[in-house]
Amino acid sequence: MAIFILTLIICNLLFLLSKASSTDTLTLSQSLPDGTTLVSKDETFELGFFSLRNSTNRYVGIWFKNIPVKTIVWVANRDHPLKDNSTKLTITCDGNLVLLTKNNTVHWSTNTTTKPLRPTLQLLNTGNLILRNDNDDNNSINNEEKFLWQSFDYPCDTLLPGMKLGWNKKTGLNRRVTAWKNWDDPSAGNFTWGITFDSNPEMVLWNGTSKYHRSGPWNGVRFSGAFGGSNSLTTHPLFVYKLVNNNNDEAYYSYSSINKSLISIVVMNQTLFRRQRIIWIPENGTWRLFQTAPRDICDTYNPCGSYANCMVDASPVCQCLEGFEPKSSETMDLAQGCVRREPWRCKVEGRDGFRKFIGLKFPDTTHSWVNRSMTLEECKVKCRENCSCTAYANLDIRGAGSGCSIWFGDLIDLKVVSQSGQYLYIRIADSQTDSKDAHKKKALLLIGTTVAPIALVVLLAIFYYYRRKRKYEVEKKSEVGGQEDSMELPLFDLATIVNATNNFSTDNKLGQGGFGPVYKGVLVDGQEIAVKRLSRSSGQGLTEFKNEVILCAKLQHRNLVKVLGCCIEGEEKMLLYEYMPNRSLDSFLFG
Ligand SMILES: *[C@@H]1O[C@H](CO)[C@@H](O)[C@H](O)[C@H]1NC(C)=O
Ligand SMILES: *[C@@H]1O[C@H](CO)[C@@H](O)[C@H](O)[C@H]1NC(C)=O
Ligand SMILES: *[C@@H]1O[C@H](CO)[C@@H](O)[C@H](O)[C@H]1NC(C)=O
Ligand SMILES: *[C@@H]1O[C@H](CO)[C@@H](O)[C@H](O)[C@H]1NC(C)=O
Ligand SMILES: *[C@@H]1O[C@H](CO)[C@@H](O)[C@H](O)[C@H]1NC(C)=O
Ligand SMILES: *[C@@H]1O[C@H](CO)[C@@H](O)[C@H](O)[C@H]1NC(C)=O
Ligand SMILES: *[C@@H]1O[C@H](CO)[C@@H](O)[C@H](O)[C@H]1NC(C)=O
Ligand SMILES: *[C@@H]1O[C@H](CO)[C@@H](O)[C@H](O)[C@H]1NC(C)=O
Ligand SMILES: *[C@@H]1O[C@H](CO)[C@@H](O)[C@H](O)[C@H]1NC(C)=O
Ligand SMILES: *[C@@H]1O[C@H](CO)[C@@H](O)[C@H](O)[C@H]1NC(C)=O
Ligand SMILES: *[C@@H]1O[C@H](CO)[C@@H](O)[C@H](O)[C@H]1NC(C)=O
Ligand SMILES: *[C@@H]1O[C@H](CO)[C@@H](O)[C@H](O)[C@H]1NC(C)=O
Repeated sequence: MAIFILTLIICNLLFLLSKASSTDTLTLSQSLPDGTTLVSKDETFELGFFSLRNSTNRYVGIWFKNIPVKTIVWVANRDHPLKDNSTKLTITCDGNLVLLTKNNTVHWSTNTTTKPLRPTLQLLNTGNLILRNDNDDNNSINNEEKFLWQSFDYPCDTLLPGMKLGWNKKTGLNRRVTAWKNWDDPSAGNFTWGITFDSNPEMVLWNGTSKYHRSGPWNGVRFSGAFGGSNSLTTHPLFVYKLVNNNNDEAYYSYSSINKSLISIVVMNQTLFRRQRIIWIPENGTWRLFQTAPRDICDTYNPCGSYANCMVDASPVCQCLEGFEPKSSETMDLAQGCVRREPWRCKVEGRDGFRKFIGLKFPDTTHSWVNRSMTLEECKVKCRENCSCTAYANLDIRGAGSGCSIWFGDLIDLKVVSQSGQYLYIRIADSQTDSKDAHKKKALLLIGTTVAPIALVVLLAIFYYYRRKRKYEVEKKSEVGGQEDSMELPLFDLATIVNATNNFSTDNKLGQGGFGPVYKGVLVDGQEIAVKRLSRSSGQGLTEFKNEVILCAKLQHRNLVKVLGCCIEGEEKMLLYEYMPNRSLDSFLFG
């Protein structure tokens, strides 16, 4: 005991004696008083005391040294501000970093339990402030395992490159990023970013304890909720993102810049309730916003309820997935979600099947299960076996796809994010049209097996034709005329349709689908039609359009809406359906 006290006294004496020389390290015998700083070797980061605007509170934190706009990336005592400038940062003999006030009381301290011989504090070039044992060789600064403590394990509102967001499963350490309360106050707000700790981890933003935004689980390439379009992360290779999830060790997200001279950070902003990735623009001397989450109302957590798709430009914003209908008959806008149009009956022949959905953000993974080695077929069997299983998908979409992910209970927080890529198989009544009649089922199967190859051939032919056509840049107005034969569908001219729909009058508008508005119209012969006018922004190209037309034409069936024809003129692409007075028409057309 006496020896212990003696060492403490010696320790304290050492604190009093020396100050830090201006380097990146602080040893046991040194202290860092208010007004002095530590600077990382490459002079990227600086550690020191600071105040915010007109507040007198003092904090210890890390900021960029090589950027003129003071950007604080870490605060040690965010919830314990200092009231004056007489405090110093020191290391105690038991290997902790502490803030000692004038009368030598500990104001703030780290909580390590190891008892190192010669603890040393070092500010690394990455912005990581570490406590390590001085005896360890130079390699120890690259070996996280050897750190006694590191600031990267206790993030504030900023995720720096190389920082891990998420779990160390062995120690139970959960690294989360929490916004400052406001611009003047770095204490923890209630807007938090972290990784869920379940079978299929994903990034989540929380408002207090409720989910505010989900990234969707990692699909091997990106988070399944990330847009797969031309703005996608994969085609914008400024950063490398990774999600590591090994069974017993870790589940974390991290990123790094591909070009190390690009300075970029991710910050949580409580005021805007947004997570923002910003990039430093040296020429302009400012930070520029690069990405933000959530992007819009559809990107927040589950705005539409179960089995619904959310589309910002559509009206209503929430739309049921194909094969589903609104739970409540009232307006679907931000409502109760959807239910199966026909109830499926578990393991009942003809009433239990799956429908494949393309490009859907994968549902909330709270009630899910994964197996990395299963094939998609095994996955389907696994799902079919369990009556609470509602969907399955490949865990990893790379290549031909691998692994199995299955979901239980109602599927929530869905959204179409791309037109290709990840597939989700949702459990649904086997055939929506003829369930009991086995003959008809067989016929459908026959159509499926014969039509599909034919359609494929036609499609390939058209695709090839258009490739060649584009190559030769034939700029003729009658471009589509040559396609008439292969389409086997009457081609209407624009004037006819303009006439029939009263020049696309809003009175005639029946609704709005994902690909554009639908209008009611009357042809000169008195026939009532519904016109689906593909919006130019729909992204549906000519090939996809032909594809749809051909498939619709081949699938003429008494229970399906009949396709009467189409119209392609200039930018305009339209499909003409038989008008069904029944209110549920829209659900046939949107999907
Ligand atoms: C600390 O604060 C006092 C009074 O506010 C001021 O005179 C002094 O210069 C400050 N010291 C440092 C190191 O900032
Ligand atoms: C800080 O200064 C601004 C204007 O300079 C003032 O509006 C604000 O109330 C001040 N905040 C505090 C906490 O004093
Ligand atoms: C040390 O100073 C702090 C304020 O700086 C005060 O709250 C605390 O009571 C003092 N402790 C002792 C033992 O004097
Ligand atoms: C250290 O532990 C104490 C008590 O468990 C806690 O109040 C304090 O916030 C912890 N400090 C840090 C920096 O985690
Ligand atoms: C650590 O690296 C420095 C320079 O990089 C070198 O001078 C020193 O000898 C190294 N120390 C050990 C223990 O390897
Ligand atoms: C949040 O963003 C707004 C607008 O960019 C900015 O004015 C504000 O300072 C930010 N708040 C924090 C805490 O960074
Ligand atoms: C966060 O949750 C609180 C309490 O539930 C709510 O009042 C607030 O509007 C929410 N904030 C946002 C941005 O949704
Ligand atoms: C979060 O904080 C904001 C203001 O700081 C408050 O309006 C909101 O209700 C809080 N949310 C929760 C869930 O506590
Ligand atoms: C990285 O960016 C800097 C400045 O933008 C540029 O000069 C350099 O060539 C880039 N390096 C690589 C490997 O792309
Ligand atoms: C710098 O600012 C100018 C004018 O504000 C802008 O036109 C330019 O695009 C900016 N440069 C970058 C790289 O953002
Ligand atoms: C995952 O699937 C493989 C192949 O079907 C099987 O051998 C293995 O036991 C499964 N693992 C778990 C945890 O179910
Ligand atoms: C189906 O899966 C759920 C959730 O994992 C599980 O609780 C239940 O026991 C399973 N039922 C069967 C029949 O395997």
